[in-house]
Amino acid sequence: MQEDILNTKNQALAQLMSAESVNELEQIRIDYFGRSGKFTNLIKDIKKAPPEERKHIGQTLNEAKKSIETLLEGQKNSFKEVAREWFDPTIPGEKPDVGHIHLITLTIEKISEIFTRIGFERARYPEVESDYFAFEALNMPKNHPARDEWETFFVDVPENPKSGKTVLTPHTSSGQVREMLRVGKPPVRMINIAKCYRRQSDISHVPMFHQFEGLVIDKGISIVNLKGTLDYFAKAFFGKDRVTRLRPYHFQFTEPSFEIDISCGVCGGKGCKVCKAGWLELGGAGMVHPNVLKAGRVDPKIYSGFAFGWGVERVLMMREGLGIPDVRMIYSTDLRYLSQF
Ligand code: PHE
Repeated sequence: MQEDILNTKNQALAQLMSAESVNELEQIRIDYFGRSGKFTNLIKDIKKAPPEERKHIGQTLNEAKKSIETLLEGQKNSFKEVAREWFDPTIPGEKPDVGHIHLITLTIEKISEIFTRIGFERARYPEVESDYFAFEALNMPKNHPARDEWETFFVDVPENPKSGKTVLTPHTSSGQVREMLRVGKPPVRMINIAKCYRRQSDISHVPMFHQFEGLVIDKGISIVNLKGTLDYFAKAFFGKDRVTRLRPYHFQFTEPSFEIDISCGVCGGKGCKVCKAGWLELGGAGMVHPNVLKAGRVDPKIYSGFAFGWGVERVLMMREGLGIPDVRMIYSTDLRYLSQF
C-alpha cells in the first residue's frame, strides 16, 4: 500500500510537470482527486488495511496529497503569469496626446519670417506703456479727440509729470518712436509684433489681441515702397494671386494715411457675399508724420518713412479656408476647437 501511494504520487507530479495548459491541469486534478480518481480510491482503500497500519498509511497519503496540491497550484499560477505577460505586437498602440503651438504663435512666426526675409528686424516694446509713447509722441496731444478711437485701459498708478498716465498699449504704434530712439540714425526697418489691449469684446474684437507694426525710415522712402511691401506681404501670406489697394483715411501719426484693402480670396475681386465689392479691409498704414519723426529725433527734411499696423487675429481669420465665426474662439481653451489646427 505504501508503495502504491508513492507511485501514484510520483505519477501525478510527473504529469503536472509536463502539463501545458490550465485545462490539462484540471484534467489531471480530476484523474487523481475526482470521485473515482486514483488518489480518491487509495483513500477509500484505507479501510481494507490492517488497523495497526492505518495511521501510518493515513500520514503518507496526507503528505502525498499536499505535495500534489502544492505543485498543482504552482503550475496554475505560472500559467496565469505567462498570460499576463503575453504581448501582442499587432494590436495598435495607444498614442499619447501631443500638443502643438497655438494658432496665434504660429501666425506670428509666419509674419515675422515673411518680413525678416526682406530685411525687417523683429522688435517688441512694453505692453504697459506711458501715455507719451502710446499717444503724445504720435502727434496726439492730451485731450485730442482722435485718442477716443483707441478704447484704452488705464493702469491705476500715479501720473508721471513727463510721460503722463500709464496705459495698456492699445496699438503697436507705441513702438515707433521707441524704435527710432533705439536705432539713433536711420535706416530703421522694424517689425514689432506684440499684444495690444482695448475695451472691446464682440464677435470681431477681443480685449487682448495682437498687432504687427512695420516701420521703415530712410532717405527717399515713398508710398511706392509702402505699396511694394504690402503687396509682397499679401502674396507671401495670403497667396500669389492677391493684391492690395490703398484707400484714403486719417491717422494723426501718418500723412497721408490709408486703409489697406486686399482683393477677396473667395471671388478673386469680382464681389461676393464675403467681401465689399471685391475687397476686404486689412488695416491702417501711411507715411510717417513729420512730428512723429521729430519725436524720434529723426530729421524730416532728410528722412521719410512709412508705417503700417494690422491685427494678427484679423489676418489669420481672413486667410482662406479658416472659417472662424467669432474672433474670441481663438482664445478658447476648448480642445475640440484647438486640436483642429
Ligand atoms: N495704430 C493704428 C491702429 O491701431 C494702425 C496704424 C499703424 C496706422 C501705423 C497707420 C500707421 O489702428
